[in-house]
This record gives sequence, structure tokens and C-alpha cells, in this order.
Amino acid sequence: MRSKSLALIAVGTGLAVAMTACGANTSTGGNTADTNTNSGSGGAKVGVILPETASSARWEGFDKPLLEKALKAEGLDPDIQNAQGDVQKFSTLADGMINAGVKVLIIATPNSEIGATVARKAEASGIAVIDYDRLNLGGSSKYYVSFDNEAVGALQGEGLVQGLAALAPGKKPAEIIEIEGAPTDNNATLFYNGQQKVLKPKYDSGDLKLVQSQPIDNWDNQKGGTTFEQILTGNGQKVDGVVAANDGLAGAVITVLKKYGLNGKVPVTGQDATPEGLQAILRGDQFMTVFKPINEQAEATAKLAAALAKNDTAAADALASGVTKDTKANRDVKSVLLPAQLITKDKVKTVVDAGFVKATEICGGDLAAVCTELGIK
Ligand code: GAL
Repeated sequence: MRSKSLALIAVGTGLAVAMTACGANTSTGGNTADTNTNSGSGGAKVGVILPETASSARWEGFDKPLLEKALKAEGLDPDIQNAQGDVQKFSTLADGMINAGVKVLIIATPNSEIGATVARKAEASGIAVIDYDRLNLGGSSKYYVSFDNEAVGALQGEGLVQGLAALAPGKKPAEIIEIEGAPTDNNATLFYNGQQKVLKPKYDSGDLKLVQSQPIDNWDNQKGGTTFEQILTGNGQKVDGVVAANDGLAGAVITVLKKYGLNGKVPVTGQDATPEGLQAILRGDQFMTVFKPINEQAEATAKLAAALAKNDTAAADALASGVTKDTKANRDVKSVLLPAQLITKDKVKTVVDAGFVKATEICGGDLAAVCTELGIK
């Protein structure tokens, strides 16, 4: 069972960003202003290091292109790299960016330890650091931009309850397997805590029975699938509902359920609204996902980076008006915490209409008819 210690208490309300224009440097053409002056963020170098690719299609599929677009729109010069889950590579990439003289370093890390180390090194060189998506517990970054991740977990809990009502009405106790995210990722703890806000009362009342709750190192989808199969076979191939902490793990769980003829009969949760996850929902194999508008996360991060590149702390603080408590370093971190949405089959259209995923990415082949039926185009 996951350690109960609450690693993070979000004490701020999930505030959408006050998208006050930060007045990114508007100087164009002949202006040769040194990017280190207060004349604006014109062309200031910004480093971005993403954690891995194996855990979720989001990092290369959404975060990278959306951050590139948003940072350039703020007049910044981004260098975006991915550490591929390798802590040593993360450190080497950070050293390179610090030596290249970035004004701001944006980090989404495989674990808090490397994040705290990199932040201290960068700040010692006068570089502002933003924790992106994942807070580095015990770190020193002054700013954090993410979603209200406990609320994301609560949406997953609600999704499971809705799925059980639809697919296993009256089953009591409904037997549940929880396949959770990486223990090194503070978000995974927050997702779990949010899920339990909804599910614990139902475990306690006997409506639900927990077969096993298992965190998966590095969100490794392959490992998530083999672990789920071990738990399922250990339970006599019986399960009524599965909490999968993101769409990548949900996909691995569904592959196993198909082996035992259980897909579509057992609700499976997810998050990230990836094309694969949305297709699984349209097929009825996955019950829900959580849509986190990464374009909003990228835009908020870019506006914050532009303010910090100009040393405009007042503008930065106005944007990061939320507060998140890092209980490990016992510090309050200025935060942007964005809201997220529960997406079931009837809501997939909203993700496409938001421009987050294209109909052409999810409506091919056997899904053409269901997309037409749901008005997805
Ligand atoms: C979390 C992130 C999620 C999830 C996971 C795997 O930190 O917030 O979107 O997909 O990592 O990448």
C-alpha cells in the first residue's frame, strides 16, 4: 500500500492563471538590447528538460511542441530536451544549459532529488527555476506550474465509481485493483490521495474491496501490465474495476484484460487524454481519462518564464498566485494550479473541439462510425 505520508498539501485554490499580458519584449528588428537588461525578455535563452518518454505520450506529443510554441510567442529562445528517464542525463543536460547561460530553467524531473540538486545549482548561477508539472520535494525552485493534481485523482475516483455503476451495477463488494504511478513522482502521491478521497469511504463501507494497490516504478507501462496480470491471476482472474493512474498504464491493463475476455466489462481509469487513451474510451475498453489542457500549462509557464527573464518578480508573483506546500522542505511554493476535466465516451468530443487532439488522430478504421455518432469531426 502506498505510504500514507502526504508529501504535499496544496493549500492554494486551483487558480486559473490571471493571464495578464506580461509584456514580452516587443522590441523587434534593429533593437540589439542585451537580453540581460530589463528591456524585456527579447530572445532570452530558456532551458526545458522533460523527464522521460516511456511513461506517457504527453511529454513528446504535447508538452514539447506546446512549450516550444508558447515560449517563442513570448519572445524567448527555448532549448527543449528529454532526459529519457535517466537521472545522469538529466544532470548533464542541466549543466549544459546552465553553462549556455539560460536565464530561466524549466524542469519536469524523474524524481525530486535530481530536481532539488539541479535547482540549487542553477539558482547559484542566478538562473530562475520553474518546477514544471511535478513539484520537487525538498527543493528550492521559487515557482511551480501544474494542475490541481489531487483534484485530478478525485476525478479518477469519481470515474471509477461511474464506471462500476455502468458496468457492474449492484456488485457488492466490487473488487478493485489499483495500478498507481511512480513512487518517485510527487504527482503520483497526489493522484492517489485524490482517488482515496472518493474511494476510501466506499472501501470502508464494504461497497468496494481492495485486491491490491501497486505503485509502478517510472510509470513503466510494460511493468504496469505484467504487475497487473500477476495480481489478476493471483485473484482467480477476478476483478470488477481498475484504477490506472494514466492512459499509458491503462493501455497496458487493457491488453491484459483482453487476454482474459474482460475488456469492456471492467471499468479502467486513466489520465492525459492521449490519442490512444481516447480511442480505448471510444471502443469501450477504457471508461474515462482526465483532460489536462497542456496548452494552458505551457502558456502559463511561458508567461512566467518571460517575467522571470526580465527579472519582473511582481509580474511572476501575480501569475503564480496559488500556493503549494512542500512539506519536505517546509516551504510555500508560488504556484499556478490549473483545473482538469473528467472525460468519458460522451465527452471525447470536447477534447477534439478544444483542438487538443485531432479527429483524424482517433477516428480512423473501426472508430469512424462511433465518431460520426458522437459528432466528432
Ligand atoms: C505525471 C503527469 C501525468 C502522468 C505521468 C506520467 O507526473 O502529471 O500527466 O501522465 O506523470 O508521465
